[in-house]
Amino acid sequence: MILGIGTDLCNIDRIEGVLARHGDRFKNRVYTEREQRKAEGRPRAIAATYAKRWAAKEACSKALGTGLRMGISWKDMAVSNLRTGQPVMHVTGWAAERLAAMTPPGHEAIIHVTLTDDAPWAQAFVVIEARPIAGPT
Ligand SMILES: CC(C)(COP(=O)(O)OP(=O)(O)OC[C@H]1O[C@@H](n2cnc3c(N)ncnc32)[C@H](O)[C@@H]1OP(=O)(O)O)[C@@H](O)C(=O)NCCC(=O)NCCS
Repeated sequence: MILGIGTDLCNIDRIEGVLARHGDRFKNRVYTEREQRKAEGRPRAIAATYAKRWAAKEACSKALGTGLRMGISWKDMAVSNLRTGQPVMHVTGWAAERLAAMTPPGHEAIIHVTLTDDAPWAQAFVVIEARPIAGPT
């Protein structure tokens, strides 16, 4: 069953401006080390990579039904990539607690995320699915 969905559009130019003005302070407040390594390793797409991850965090907070104002820290929702390039969302801290609270007994929660960008926009969709945990056969 679907527990939550969320979407967000983020303006890459806006992120570029924030990066220029606040640099490391912004990066360290919002992005994990792994996310920063991914973005900084793409000299021609730094802002776009950060913008996609910003959109992913916003979309995830919506799927969790909270929004960011209710105390989820940005780094509690982090994107990594499989070897194929497919993005994966990891939640920790308050976001993980919220995910556990919304997951029905006997189920596990799976967070699906998809990202895209086409300047000046970066976009993310997040779907949270609950799957029954297979019992003993
Ligand atoms: C997946 C693919 C369609 C993305 O095309 P694109 O035009 O770069 O895509 P967009 O700009 O719309 O989106 C980029 C995002 O797609 C996502 N993505 C990349 N590969 C993906 C995959 N295999 N599955 C799902 N999502 C994927 C990533 O989140 C990426 O953003 P990020 O790298 O910042 O996390 C394209 O890379 C492709 O056809 N790849 C074929 C498989 C391939 O070449 N694999 C190489 C490694 S084995």
